[in-house]
Amino acid sequence: MVDPVPLASGRDADVFLIDDRRVLRRYRNGGDVAAEAAVMAYVGSLGFPVPTVYEARGTDLVMERLDGRTMLAALVAGELDVLAAADCLAGLHRRLHALPPRLGAPDDARVLHLDLHPDNVMLTSRGPVLIDWRNATEGPADLDVALSAVILAQVAVDGEHPLAAPAATLLEAFLDRVGGGLLTVLGDALTLRRNDPALTTTEREWLDAAAALITGRFPA
Ligand SMILES: Nc1ncnc2c1ncn2[C@@H]1O[C@H](COP(=O)(O)OP(=O)(O)O)[C@@H](O)[C@H]1O
Ligand SMILES: [Mg+2]
Repeated sequence: MVDPVPLASGRDADVFLIDDRRVLRRYRNGGDVAAEAAVMAYVGSLGFPVPTVYEARGTDLVMERLDGRTMLAALVAGELDVLAAADCLAGLHRRLHALPPRLGAPDDARVLHLDLHPDNVMLTSRGPVLIDWRNATEGPADLDVALSAVILAQVAVDGEHPLAAPAATLLEAFLDRVGGGLLTVLGDALTLRRNDPALTTTEREWLDAAAALITGRFPA
């Protein structure tokens, strides 16, 4: 592989263009992509929209280069309606959790992405495709939904965030679509989020307010 071209840099991974067909996603601070590659291959084989994985070794994942842009970029550019984004996020959850689990224990376990938010969805010519499977695991479907809600709510409650207002609208629409089932595992989602080392101090401080915004949407 000769001098891949940088494409994007996230919190702990860099993505490079290898050629017009393939990208390389490389963890900067170590880590092993084997587990996420296995989940991607599994859900992909069942027809769930993920990039095709070509190679997974150590910190490096070589996968299909997707066209289009992220849902976040499309929202920011005003090219995607917030309600359509909510439909898409809820639909991806529904489709993912309808799949038979790979490991399958306990009985209600489903494949979970646990980071399903607008910057991890690419809107491509073959439809929405879910990327960034680093946190993928199996567990109760509601936990995945709750995590998405918490992530959106954290942006919505941060008054200094330029996307706070659209995030609040998106959260509302998302909660309308997924319903209140997530409330039973909201505490678990908050704990997972609180323990995420990638979270900034400010983001951690906003967690309680984020939780209140979600529960407030489902008055008893
Ligand atoms: N398969 C892919 N094809 C094209 N671009 C990609 C692909 N995977 C990731 N990207 C780009 O890289 C960015 C970061 O990727 P992601 O896997 O979400 O890593 P992280 O969030 O850890 O930085 C994405 O927002 C997207 O712009
Ligand atoms: Mg990401």
